[in-house]
Amino acid sequence: MRQLGGYALYLSWTDLQLGRGETVADTARTISRYVDGIVARVNIHHTLIELAEYATVPVMNALSDLDHPLQTLADLMTILEKKGGFEGLKLCYIGDGNNVCNSLLIGCSKVGLDMVVSCPEGYEPNPEFLDNARRNCKASGSNVKLERNPREAAADADIIYTDVIVSMGQESDRERKLETFLPEYQVNSEIIEAAKGDVIFMHPLPCRRGEEVTGPVIDGPASVVWDQAENRLHTTKAILTLIL
Ligand code: NVA
Repeated sequence: MRQLGGYALYLSWTDLQLGRGETVADTARTISRYVDGIVARVNIHHTLIELAEYATVPVMNALSDLDHPLQTLADLMTILEKKGGFEGLKLCYIGDGNNVCNSLLIGCSKVGLDMVVSCPEGYEPNPEFLDNARRNCKASGSNVKLERNPREAAADADIIYTDVIVSMGQESDRERKLETFLPEYQVNSEIIEAAKGDVIFMHPLPCRRGEEVTGPVIDGPASVVWDQAENRLHTTKAILTLIL
């Protein structure tokens, strides 16, 4: 917002009256009288829906437990920069079928990028996102699929993508999730070697080296995560410009 010539207020849960029991609807109505737009990062997606319903200014999703569309925009911009296009490319997502994965399914299927998701049983992406992605694929000519075996999924991939095993708000489930995902669903050099020679590695950050990805991969030559991180700035500015 500063770079675009505007101004931004950061309001945490406890800065808002929400921390004192005000409803999301009332907060949305009040905040709308003070600002031109709301960018909200929420634990429960329904909070975002309620904000959008009662706010009279635009509400942008800066991450929910269900999806993370602004991240996907930065990811697609990075792929475009590194690969020069989307057609005929394969993105392999290894890990939790979470918010980042759900949004990637929508983004990839819209631009015509093939996507394969490899996750443990019970951690599949949201079925509605999968259905929407499959519908998009019919128009774009790409495909999305699930492949339990991460090495099979990585074969011939142009992009290997992973995200944290334990997302925000899931800290109490940490031990159980790590036991379920590791060591099989970790992006390590064997996974990178199974992919194409010019594969790029992506991660939305922050990462936990030694959990979802090894240090040599995220710090290695295939990694584009710092350019990807920078692109969060440019794509978010583009969205703010478009909406505000
Ligand atoms: N799945 C992660 C994404 C972080 C950008 C989380 O929700 O914490």
